[in-house]
Amino acid sequence: MSVATGVIMLPRTSIGKKVIMAITGLIWVGFVTFHMYGNLKILAGAEYFNAYAEGLRSLGAPIFGHGHLLFVARLVLIFSLLSHIWAAVTLAMQARGARPRNYALKKSVQATFASLYIRWGGIALFFFVLYHLAHLTWGVPGINNHFIPGNPYNNVVMGFSSGPAIVFYYVALIALSLHLYHGVWSMFQTLGLNSKEYSSMIRLLALALAVVVPLGFAIPPLAVVLGIVTL
Ligand code: HEM
Repeated sequence: MSVATGVIMLPRTSIGKKVIMAITGLIWVGFVTFHMYGNLKILAGAEYFNAYAEGLRSLGAPIFGHGHLLFVARLVLIFSLLSHIWAAVTLAMQARGARPRNYALKKSVQATFASLYIRWGGIALFFFVLYHLAHLTWGVPGINNHFIPGNPYNNVVMGFSSGPAIVFYYVALIALSLHLYHGVWSMFQTLGLNSKEYSSMIRLLALALAVVVPLGFAIPPLAVVLGIVTL
C-alpha cells in the first residue's frame, strides 16, 4: 500500500479516528486556553478589552488583511469541531457493532460513567457553542437584546445581566471541565505517550487544565454579577 493510500484509508480505521480526535481536540484545547486568557482582560476595562478583540482582527497585519487570519482560524476551528464529532460518532457506531452481547455486564461502572459524561457532555458543549455564538458573537435578538457590534465589553456585561445566561454558562463550564479531563487523558493514550512513568504527570496535566480553564472562564460572569466589571 502506498503512503498516499495509507493516508486516505487512515480515517476509516479506529486508530485513525482516534488520532483525528486527539489532534482536533488539541486544537480546541489550545483555543479554549487562549480564549479564557483573553477573556480575563475584561478585568482591565472596556478600552483594553475592546482593543484586544480588535487586535485579534488585525492579527498578521500587514501581511494579512483585516480579519483574514481570524477567518482562517475560524475555518480551522469549525473543521476541527466537525471532524472531532464525525470521528466520535463513527467510533461509537463501530464499537456498538463490534460489541459482544454480554459486554454491558462486563463494563466497569467507572468506564460507563466516563463514556456517558464524555458523550452527553460533548453534545451539551456543541449546543453551548451555538448558544454562545448567538449570545456574544452574533447578538441574536431574544438571546442578547443589548448587543452592540464591535463592542464585546458591552456585550459581555449586558449578556451576563441575566440569571439564566449565567446558569447556562456555568453548566457548560462543568461539562467543559469533565470533557477536558477525560479528553486530555485519552489524547495522551492515543498518541502513545502513556507509559507508566508519565502516567501521574499526564493525570496532573489533565486535572490542571480541567480546573484552571473553567475557573478562568467563570471569572468574567462573576465579576459582572459582583459589579466589579460594569458599564
Ligand atoms: C464565561 C465564559 C466566556 C466568555 C465571557 C466568552 C466571551 C466571548 C466573546 C465576547 C466572544 C466574541 C468575541 C468577538 O466578537 O470579538 C466569544 C467568541 C467565541 N467563544 Fe467565547 N466566551 C466564553 C466561553 C467560551 C467557551 C467555554 C467556549 C468553547 C467551549 C467558547 C467559544 C467561543 C467561540 C468558538 C467564539 C467565536 C470566536 C470567533 O469566531 O471569533 N467561549 N466568546
